[in-house]
Amino acid sequence: MKMWSGRFRQPLDPRFERWQRSFDFDRRLLSYELTASAAHARALKNAGVLSAEELIGILEGLQQIGETAAASKGLVEDDEAEDVHHFVEKQLVARIGDVAYKLHSGRSRNEQIATDMRLYVRAAIDGLRGDLAEVCGTFIDRAEQAGGAAMPAYTHLQRAEPVLVGHWLLAYVEMFLRDADRLADCRKRVNLCPVGSGAVAGATLPLDRTLMADELDFASPTANSIDATSDRDFVLEFVNTLSLLALHLSRWAEEMIIFSTEEFGFVQLPEAYSTGSSAMPQKKNPDLLELVRAKAGRVIGNATTLMITLKGLPLAYNKDLQETQEPLFDATDTALGLLPLVAGFMKTVEFNHQSMNEAAQAGFMNAWAAATYLVNRGVPSRLAHEQIGKAVKLCLKKSCELQDLTLDELRSLNPVFDESFGDCLKPASVLAIHDVVGGTAPARVKKAIAAAREEIDALRGEVHAHA
Ligand code: ARG
Repeated sequence: MKMWSGRFRQPLDPRFERWQRSFDFDRRLLSYELTASAAHARALKNAGVLSAEELIGILEGLQQIGETAAASKGLVEDDEAEDVHHFVEKQLVARIGDVAYKLHSGRSRNEQIATDMRLYVRAAIDGLRGDLAEVCGTFIDRAEQAGGAAMPAYTHLQRAEPVLVGHWLLAYVEMFLRDADRLADCRKRVNLCPVGSGAVAGATLPLDRTLMADELDFASPTANSIDATSDRDFVLEFVNTLSLLALHLSRWAEEMIIFSTEEFGFVQLPEAYSTGSSAMPQKKNPDLLELVRAKAGRVIGNATTLMITLKGLPLAYNKDLQETQEPLFDATDTALGLLPLVAGFMKTVEFNHQSMNEAAQAGFMNAWAAATYLVNRGVPSRLAHEQIGKAVKLCLKKSCELQDLTLDELRSLNPVFDESFGDCLKPASVLAIHDVVGGTAPARVKKAIAAAREEIDALRGEVHAHA
């Protein structure tokens, strides 16, 4: 039976009928629909709408639907179900007869879909935060393994200063920890229960909303039925957060692609995550990284779709909101698909520490350290900058590095130079002077690794607590 045919004199155009259905995609909400329906059924019993016996029948029916669906994917093929809500009603009627129709008492699909989507997003957040902890774990392991290995850090994609490889890897850990934190923050606003909001004005029966929210493990019922049935901010906020995560991954992928080129030679692509060329026998292509880079476009596209779908929508529920489901699912699938692959890639990728170290020693990356040498001897910073700049100019003419200049040449620029200048230019000294919180001095990086591990443990603990 249809959910709404009473007032209609004509049947729907079959093409429209098929086209407006959401069951093809919202069937993935089935388990949430069943759980939320069970909570609603208990509230109906407490409100005196269902007898104890009817409640048991409905709960058993809902459970059977869940079990059968889990065992056979075929169950959730249904050419007549308009959406997941209609599907459950049909299935329940097939199992327990007309008493199943009592389950819809006092509720509306508008509150149901809002609830199912919140339950879905909440579970996705918990899964993604767990995956992010694993990704961070692999980055931190690699940072630790890199030990004292250095590499050039770039600004404007030009060599700037040497840093520890570990310091570079920890930069990504920071981004991912912010993503995990944003997800946790988003979760607070997701974790409110729309059940009992009705179509727009609130349920038409005295249902205990707090009890239903508790049963579904929500922090509390939503405060306003108009907002609760029309709000998809939580979807947009979640997908925006995923956009930022995908954007971080795309920056990482781009760097890894560059670093894996023959020209850089910092990274050996793992064969398990690369592909060959059908034409050029020598090729090993960074396909995983390229696809990771491209997926950001896809997730950001989903966020844009959501934003434009919601813009200008009058309150409260409109069928437009059905169109928020697919971008949500696609963005979630994309993010959930990416993270384990990134972790696997990072576990197996080989860093060529030798070529990274070599690159870190050439190209005047000790120039700022050289200027600092003068500053520490009382030379005003702007003048020190100018004098080291001149020293670099001299080196360029002679095709050498700063450490190759003679003391006489240096003293012609400033008499304050002495023998100790050579030491301050060595890679270890250059790294060591960046001895501030957040800097690349080895002792600082060691502490940063330990601090990052603590954050990951805390994150894992939080994820575990929600499981
Ligand atoms: N399939 C619908 C959706 O995703 C469920 C809500 C339908 N509500 C309605 N009043 N037609 O939005």
